[in-house]
Amino acid sequence: MSRRPPRILLGVSGGIAAYKAAELVRALVREEAEVKVVLTARGAEFVTPLTLATLSGHPVATSEFHDPPSPAIDHIDLARWADVLLVAPATANVLARFARGLADDLLSTVHLAFRGPVVLAPAMNPGMWEREQTRANVADLEARGVVIVPPEEGFVACGDEGAGRLADLQRIAAEALIAARRSRSMEGRKIVVSAGPTREAIDPVRYLSNRSSGKMGYAIAAALEARGAEVVLVSGPVRLSPPWGVERVMVESALEMREAVLEAAGEAAAVVMAAAVADHRPSAAPEKKISLPKDRGYALQLEPNPDILAELVQARAAGRLPAKLLLVGFAAETGQATAKGVAKRRRKGCDLLLANDVARAGSGFDVETNEVTLIGPDGQPEPWPQMSKRQVAERLADTMEKWWRR
Ligand code: CTP
Repeated sequence: MSRRPPRILLGVSGGIAAYKAAELVRALVREEAEVKVVLTARGAEFVTPLTLATLSGHPVATSEFHDPPSPAIDHIDLARWADVLLVAPATANVLARFARGLADDLLSTVHLAFRGPVVLAPAMNPGMWEREQTRANVADLEARGVVIVPPEEGFVACGDEGAGRLADLQRIAAEALIAARRSRSMEGRKIVVSAGPTREAIDPVRYLSNRSSGKMGYAIAAALEARGAEVVLVSGPVRLSPPWGVERVMVESALEMREAVLEAAGEAAAVVMAAAVADHRPSAAPEKKISLPKDRGYALQLEPNPDILAELVQARAAGRLPAKLLLVGFAAETGQATAKGVAKRRRKGCDLLLANDVARAGSGFDVETNEVTLIGPDGQPEPWPQMSKRQVAERLADTMEKWWRR
């Protein structure tokens, strides 16, 4: 990771707490961050561009348009520049507009164009913060991975008491810096992720497959990419679009997946096998469609597919893959997931394994949440609570970073 300072794009929207933005810029600059400010029209009613420009050392952007007209496209340039978008204070209006994806001023347009982490520090009247529309907007934003630094309890400018005051500035600065660092924490690492089911041809029109939706593997690929990793996603047939910035290789059968994974693993720092690889394939798949008498059953002869994960482990042990390659497996079980996961990790020889019970509600195929247990080399299971697949992916990314720091 290069040593350039973290780049924080600070949005300041129009609430009375906007006056604290000046102090926040100073706190961030003291931490050696580079700060550029986008000030909304309402924000400029509370704090002047000159104050923020002087403290940040950069011109303050206030509009998508220039006078005289200029070909510069500020929202794209700023979105490309920043490691993190921090908005403090974020008004109820900003939360609503970000949640809906509006792009009707410079700040909301930058937000929509920006691909990195977003940290919002709301400040508003306590009644507005508690209001169900605001709750729903916050929940929507959090579900998309936005970090909310919640307002604190106390008296607010209008005299009401409750949660609504802008959070402590040091805390806001710390959250933004953590997010900025995390956005580059896997820079320079290539990671291969497999996802989805495989399809094993019976003939040119029929196949054997399984219920994997690919959601868990795609969430992992997105989370690793968001930390700056170069991600190759080897995907079986799924209905998902590739996460932004990820190189996707589409495959069908286990044999094709094996070839693509082994090829990409050469210079990789890690391989995460989240795919539900079919263990068997029909022994012979004729080139022509099978047509048999309809009044009789028939037996399908199956033969084993190679175990890709086990092969990766062997290749690493034999020195054909880097000794430091981190290998992560998954185990989808129905019942006794932890005990089976512990045995499976040992049998396959991967470093980390995430086991889940696909028969449980809120866990497994085609749902948005997952409940997994992490099993590491010490064999000690670490159960994680039920959470969204995105959160599981983040926690796995944290675990991988911890592995590399050992
Ligand atoms: N896996 C693999 N190649 C296979 C089968 C599985 O690389 N042919 C990987 C999966 O991607 C997963 C792990 O091995 O990371 C465990 O997959 P799972 O299907 O749970 O295990 P199996 O080895 O198939 O064991 P079983 O089905 O007998 O429980």
